[in-house]
Amino acid sequence: MTRLRARGSSVGLALGGALLVTVLSPAMSGQGQRSVKAGVYTAAQADRGQELFRSKCASCHAPNRFTDDFFYISFAGKPMWEMFDVISDTMPEDNPGSMKPEEYVDVMAYLLKLNAFPAGESELPTGKDGLSAILMEKPGS
Ligand code: HEC
Repeated sequence: MTRLRARGSSVGLALGGALLVTVLSPAMSGQGQRSVKAGVYTAAQADRGQELFRSKCASCHAPNRFTDDFFYISFAGKPMWEMFDVISDTMPEDNPGSMKPEEYVDVMAYLLKLNAFPAGESELPTGKDGLSAILMEKPGS
């Protein structure tokens, strides 16, 4: 009896987990997700992002904070929306959410450049759908 009950609850947990994943990241299982290796920001955007980084982020972060394993553990394998969500919600730490969405994505374009992902023809978008359709990766993987 006890064993049966235990099995029942773990099936429930597994189903709940699968449901949560589906709800939180529909783009992960969907078609047409592009990689950050495919040229998902422009060079001009990364330049703007670098300026913003200098004025809004560099007081607390060296650029190499965004090319190390801690960064990949947080964001590799996840949609770029996740990075936007975290950064726009919590950073700059002394004034979270104080920048415009366009400014946050410009900084993210600069972070992609720091990671040697190539620039392309179109800018990194600000919208949830657009950012959910782009997959962050660990460089070289
Ligand atoms: C006043 C200091 C401060 C400023 C300014 C600041 N940060 Fe942070 N940030 C922190 C601290 C503290 C942490 C937590 C320790 C860490 O992960 O380095 C952090 C963590 C992070 C993380 C890691 C989140 C994670 O889950 O791994 C990212 C990404 C980040 N900051 C990006 C930015 C960006 C981009 C800017 C500029 C727009 C910025 N930060 C400005 C202090 C700051």
